[in-house]
Amino acid sequence: MRERNADDRKTGAKLRTQIRAVIFDLDGVLCHTDEYHYQAWRKLAQRIGLPFDRKINSRLRGISRMDSLNIILGEKAGCYTAEEKRQLAEEKNQIYRKMLRQMTPQDLSREVKETLNALRAKGIKQAVGSSSRNTGFILERLGLADFFDAVADGTEITHSKPDPEVFLLAAKKLEVPPSQALVVEDAAAGIKAARAGGFHSAAVSEEARSAGADYFLEKISDVLYIL
Ligand code: G6P
Ligand code: MG
Repeated sequence: MRERNADDRKTGAKLRTQIRAVIFDLDGVLCHTDEYHYQAWRKLAQRIGLPFDRKINSRLRGISRMDSLNIILGEKAGCYTAEEKRQLAEEKNQIYRKMLRQMTPQDLSREVKETLNALRAKGIKQAVGSSSRNTGFILERLGLADFFDAVADGTEITHSKPDPEVFLLAAKKLEVPPSQALVVEDAAAGIKAARAGGFHSAAVSEEARSAGADYFLEKISDVLYIL
């Protein structure tokens, strides 16, 4: 865990009194469903004969399903009608949902579980802020359906990250202003969204870190050092 400001102790103490809530991204932060997204998109891309690798995949983090499809189609996006694209996005989602159905509460790592419980014990409000329309289903699979104080997801927003809409909605539901909330993200688009919305931000990946996060967390439990 690294704080951006040089005067760590002073800044840390100040923040501890300021931050009352944590808004977690879902895929790639609370669980490993980012890997399932990758596998499902790869399967679709292979079927329709388009290139796809982890580098392209990293550009999809935090981005809506349809925007992700358009990135994968690239120059070929114009060759497909809106209905064909809808069907391709649905095909990917079916592959993805099949993987999600295999998930159980065992897929929630002990570290994440302990971190969530420790934050709760400290009286910190907690929310999920995800562009995914599968958020509710995933939280159910993980046994977290009733855990969070608020959930804001892809079914409720018009603009996906880097737009701050989903985080602003989560903060509104928590009744905490952005200046008193910390967003935890694995996506560059997510950190940009957090910054645009006036939130504190913590990155759990190098890509997110390079988008200008306030903190870098080597592991999720490092969030406890900030709060
Ligand atoms: C998250 C993931 C993206 C995904 C998006 C929509 O933001 O990081 O990779 O495309 O959610 O997910 P969905 O489950 O609705 O297809
Ligand atoms: Mg993510």
